[in-house]
This record gives sequence, C-alpha cells and structure tokens, in this order.
Amino acid sequence: MSTSNHFDSIADSFNRLWYFSDDYKDFVIQHIIDELTLSGEDILVDIGGGTGTFTSRLEQESCLKKAYCIEPASAMCEEASKLTNITAICGDAHTFLATKTPFTKILLKEVIHHIPEREAFWKTVHTMLPHRGKLLIITRPQHVAFPFFKAAKEAFARNQPPHELFESQLRECGFEVETTLRSHTFTLSKERWYEMLRHRFMSDLGVFSDEEIEEGIREIEENYTRESIDIIDNLIFITATKK
Ligand SMILES: C[S@@+](CC[C@H](N)C(=O)[O-])C[C@H]1O[C@@H](n2cnc3c(N)ncnc32)[C@H](O)[C@@H]1O
Repeated sequence: MSTSNHFDSIADSFNRLWYFSDDYKDFVIQHIIDELTLSGEDILVDIGGGTGTFTSRLEQESCLKKAYCIEPASAMCEEASKLTNITAICGDAHTFLATKTPFTKILLKEVIHHIPEREAFWKTVHTMLPHRGKLLIITRPQHVAFPFFKAAKEAFARNQPPHELFESQLRECGFEVETTLRSHTFTLSKERWYEMLRHRFMSDLGVFSDEEIEEGIREIEENYTRESIDIIDNLIFITATKK
C-alpha cells in the first residue's frame, strides 16, 4: 500500500489512534513554538499536516498571520479542511512549493522520510524563505525505543534515513542547523497499544498482514508482563535557519 493510501485508510481514526496524551501534545506544541519562534508575524506551512490538529493549535497559540496544512491523502485533508482557523491544501510537498505561496516558517513533523527528492526540496525552501526564516523537522532515530515486535522495528529502520543526512543536506544549502534530542515517556494500557498496532497507526506497519500483527503482539506479550506498557518516544528536532 502506498503511503498516501495508507493515510487515507486510517484518516477517520487518525486523531484517536495517535492520541498518546494531552501532556505529549503540549510538550510537542511548546517545542515547535519555541524552535520556530512563532509569532503573529508568521505565515506557517505544515507539510504533511495530516488532519490539521497541530496546525490549528499552533495557529491559535501563536496568533499566526496565516497557517497552511498541506496534505496529499484526500481523506486526511478533508478532516483538516473542517478546521476554520487554517487553510488546508490537498497536495504533496513539491506541489505546494510550485504554487510559490509565500511563507516565513515551515514545519515537517513526522513526514520527512515520505518526501522524495529532498535536496531539490531544501533548495526551493531556502530560496523562498525570508532572511532568518526557519524550517523545523521533527523525526525519529532509525532505532526506535517503541515496544514494537522485531520485524516492525526492522521495517521502521528501513524506511527512516539517518537524521545526519538531513543535517548535512541543509548545511550544504546554506542553512544554520541545530539539532536537539528530546524524549517523552508515557504509559498506555496494553489493550490500547495493541489497538494502535492493529490499526497500523504508523505507515511502517502497513506491510504486515493481520496474522503477522497478531504474531507480533504475541511476541510483545512475552516481553512485557505488566498490564500497562511504557512508551518511550525519542524525537529529533532539527531547526534550520536561513542566514
Ligand atoms: C505520520 S503522518 C504525520 C501527520 C502530522 N504531521 C502529525 O504529526 O500529526 C505523515 C503525513 O505525511 C503525509 N505525506 C506523505 N507523503 C507526503 C508528501 N510527499 N508531501 C507531503 N505530505 C506527505 C501523509 O499523508 C501523512 O498525513
């Protein structure tokens, strides 16, 4: 299944599936606002913004001049277009840049590994950003600490380029680059975590059949004996500023 079809298939349950905790959302939102130094002067573009929940909160909390949610999966984009304080555009990262819509800040949260021809993408973003304009990537290391089964960890690592690659490409384009690793731990009931796996909340899980997911859950059961499960989410924040 292609990435955008995968996200179309989980669009109606995406917000529920990806709901870790209010704390988790607040933690991520606050770091985005700080890293991008968002203010009322900014036009924000959230590439691969999904159902627009993050775009919308960022708009509200920073009183942005304008906020765009760019999303190629039409079912996800349809959800985002219901949020009245943002503009949802159905399309991919490159298609959006080709429209030459001006912006001052750009967010790529959990999407960079889906975008092809990244070097061309950085170059265009660098040209379009104003002086001191910023780009923020939020991504994960190739080896996640999530309680996945072994084959899921391997699938994730295969799909996730090392973050150092993004850093060096951005520096080559002329950006100032700063990287910070941040970790957030939360506890879910096993039942909830297994529901997320069964719904393939991450596109890396889309390659597994129902039988393989059930087998994976049995593997996790052997390693985690308590009723609840600690989820450690290690996130990488890469901030690139135009000099
Ligand atoms: C894991 S979701 C992240 C959604 C949102 N950024 C968030 O953090 O809640 C990845 C999103 O990227 C979108 N996507 C996939 N390929 C893309 C591309 N080439 N350009 C823009 N978005 C893309 C998917 O449709 C999906 O909605």
